[in-house]
Amino acid sequence: MRIINVKDYEEMSRKAADLIAAQIILNPKSVLGLATGSSPIGTYECLVELNRNGVIDFSHVTTINLDEYYGLDPTHDQSYRYFMNKHLFSRVNINMANTHLPDGKAKDIDAECRRYDDLIESVGGIDLQLLGIGHNGHIGFNEPSDEFIPGTHCVSLSESTINANSRFFKSRDEVPRKAITMGIKAIMQARKVLLIASGEDKKEILKKALFGPITPQVPASILQLHKDLTVITPLDI
Ligand code: GLP
Repeated sequence: MRIINVKDYEEMSRKAADLIAAQIILNPKSVLGLATGSSPIGTYECLVELNRNGVIDFSHVTTINLDEYYGLDPTHDQSYRYFMNKHLFSRVNINMANTHLPDGKAKDIDAECRRYDDLIESVGGIDLQLLGIGHNGHIGFNEPSDEFIPGTHCVSLSESTINANSRFFKSRDEVPRKAITMGIKAIMQARKVLLIASGEDKKEILKKALFGPITPQVPASILQLHKDLTVITPLDI
C-alpha cells in the first residue's frame, strides 16, 4: 500500500485527478470504477478542468459506478446517476453510452445484479477503481457484515449510513433503505485502487481499515490485500 499524505481536500482532489489522468493518458480506453459521495466531488472538478484544457480525452473511456440507491429514478436529484451526470459526465467529452451504474428501478433485482457483473466482465474488469470510505468502513455500499460478498448485490443500508446520507435528503425518511452495490470481487480485481478520505471524522475508520484486522465488519479492510492500493489523505494516520 502507498499512502500519499497531502495538505488538504484540494490537494487530495488534485492528486487523485492526476493519477486518474495518468491512467487515461497511458490507456485512452481505460475502464474507470467511479464513486459518489462528497469525497470525489473535488476530484471530478479537477478532471473536468483537465479535460477542458485538453490534457485528457474521455471519448474512449468506459466508467462503471460502484452503486445506486434502490428505488430512485435516474432523474431523482439524489440518485447516483444524477450525481455522476452533474459532477462529471455532462461536463466532459465522454460517450454517455459508456457510462454505467446499476439500475435503481430494476424490477428484477437478481437479474440486474447479474447484468452488472456480466457487464464488468465484458469490459475486461476495472483498470482503476476510485473509492471513498463510509464511517462504518463501507466501500461502495458494501456494509459491515459477517462475510465479504463477492458479486453485485442488493443491500439493506445500515442505520449509520442512513443517518450519514440523510444530510443530502429533505428528511431522514426520504433516504432509500436499500441499494444495489458492486461486490468485493470486482473491487479487489480492479488493477489499481485509489482510496481518498478526508475530514477528522474519517480518521479512526481509515486507520482501522488500513492497519486493523481484515474483517467483513470493516469492509474496506480487505483493501490491505490489494496489490496496487494508493491512499491519498490529509489525515495523519
Ligand atoms: C456513500 C457511498 C460511498 C461513499 C461513502 C462516503 O454512502 N455509497 O461510495 O464512499 O458514502 O461518502 P462521503 O465521501 O460523502 O463521506
